[in-house]
Amino acid sequence: MSDTRSKLLALLRSQPAEGFLSGQQAAEALGVSRAAVCKAAAGLRRQGYQIQAVTRRGYRLASEDAPLTRDGLLAALEHWQAPVEVWPSLPSTNLRARQLALDGAPAGTVVAALCQTQGRGRFGRVFESPPGGLYLSMVLRPEGSIAQALTLTAAAAVAVCRAVEECCGVSLSVKWVNDLVLDGKKCGGILTEGAAALESGRLEYLIVGIGLNLCTLPEDFSPAVRPVAASLYPGLAPLPVHQLAASLCRQLAWLCFDPQPEQFLPEYRRRSCVLGHHITVHPPAGQPYAAFAQAIDDQGRLVVRLPAGGVQTLQWGEVSVRSAGSPPPEPASI
Ligand code: BTN
Repeated sequence: MSDTRSKLLALLRSQPAEGFLSGQQAAEALGVSRAAVCKAAAGLRRQGYQIQAVTRRGYRLASEDAPLTRDGLLAALEHWQAPVEVWPSLPSTNLRARQLALDGAPAGTVVAALCQTQGRGRFGRVFESPPGGLYLSMVLRPEGSIAQALTLTAAAAVAVCRAVEECCGVSLSVKWVNDLVLDGKKCGGILTEGAAALESGRLEYLIVGIGLNLCTLPEDFSPAVRPVAASLYPGLAPLPVHQLAASLCRQLAWLCFDPQPEQFLPEYRRRSCVLGHHITVHPPAGQPYAAFAQAIDDQGRLVVRLPAGGVQTLQWGEVSVRSAGSPPPEPASI
């Protein structure tokens, strides 16, 4: 670690619990420029230290617990039976977990990273994964067929919500099917990928990957993502990153190893921010159209009522909630 970095870390550690250190104060204390402080803070964040930077207040170490390490996670997990990896950076934890699954890794194998260079979202999109977030994938080997994979994303969403509520005291909602939402903005997402035997349709393995913005700063996201992204910890509470990662693993194991819809679907519905709302459906191919989100069925599918009166059951796709008074999408076709 560079000298300025380690001195800045020591200085941040010596601050009172909820105190911020301004860039100017840090620069004077360390005898360097504010730009050097800024660079050192960025370097620490790349190493996994959860450093908040708030305009007009300065810097603050959000957690004494950071960064996430394999030893720290194993200790928090206590008697975890499967392999656990924690990387400073990976192209994608899902890709790494898939490789391990193909090599025979057991259910419960965990791959976490402090940042990703090729984070993957649904529909082949990029999932921006800068330092300050938690990126974690787990290998699953549930009995059953590919059709059950949809409920698995719902199970994982509930697992994340429970872990976040337990460790951070923050209540998240879920935008069907896989977006984790805080105050109307996306603070994380889930990507479930897997392989099934062609002849039987039986699952060989599944990878459930979770990305959560913990204290990621707005400027760490691209201008396109910035207005719609939220972080769990813009505030002052200490960030229990190991407890959170461990709780997430335990909840995933509990809900996803042998998924029982009655254990998670009622909560998934309760946490839904689309049910009972007028929405726009954005099919992977074709034009967006207006609908009303009526129900989530026992397979985790979204049942929507169309303006013309019919009902549709969506297995995939993407929806957005239409605010009151917003016009229906053009053209309003099915
Ligand atoms: C989405 O919002 O479309 C899903 C995002 C899922 C992101 C997570 S981060 C950990 C895992 N590794 C990836 O490359 N993607 C998932």
